[in-house]
Amino acid sequence: MVFLTGLSGSGKSTIAQTLLVKLVERSSRSVTLLDGDVVRKYLSSELGFSKEHRDLNIRRIGYVASEVARHGGIAICAPIAPYDALRKEVRAMTAQQRAGFTLVHVATSIEVCEERDRKGLYAKARAGLIAGFTGISDPYEPPDDAELVVDTATTSAEGVADLILGHLETEGYLRTAAAVELAS
Ligand code: ADX
Repeated sequence: MVFLTGLSGSGKSTIAQTLLVKLVERSSRSVTLLDGDVVRKYLSSELGFSKEHRDLNIRRIGYVASEVARHGGIAICAPIAPYDALRKEVRAMTAQQRAGFTLVHVATSIEVCEERDRKGLYAKARAGLIAGFTGISDPYEPPDDAELVVDTATTSAEGVADLILGHLETEGYLRTAAAVELAS
């Protein structure tokens, strides 16, 4: 399982989609994407953004992703996941399935995320129209146990996806590029 965590607008979804395409090319295993916004639409539509609801949301994502792993697939998760304890819970859940877990901190700064403000939500949060917005009026606990720390202000989504692939390869989750060439 590849679990991307970071602020809204940090680039998680773009990285996740780029990684998905690359993984499908590189692996015969099926790849499932659990993007934050999509999960909120289909799995967690009744949830808000209190700590309790965010925790429930991440627990659901972790459960689905570990089921995907148990059935031999690769899951890419891309929620904000602001709380350390819940990220650790998902890591433990995955370990129980004897599946790999790669935590990627998309550490794009709040300044850059706010400047991009793709969804206009930072402006609304600053104006007090959204309460409890992550990074503005709600906490984000940076992980101290991430396998990779990346920043989309300095590295493209393509570049980050390649870094993740390299990590997965080093950890033995993927065949090496040379082996792929030999097999094809
Ligand atoms: S999480 O905290 O539960 O992991 P999740 O990734 O599902 O968050 O949803 C985050 C997305 O919801 C953001 O990208 C943003 O579009 C939207 N959103 C709406 N309200 C908030 C809020 N109060 N804090 C953070 N994101 C919010």
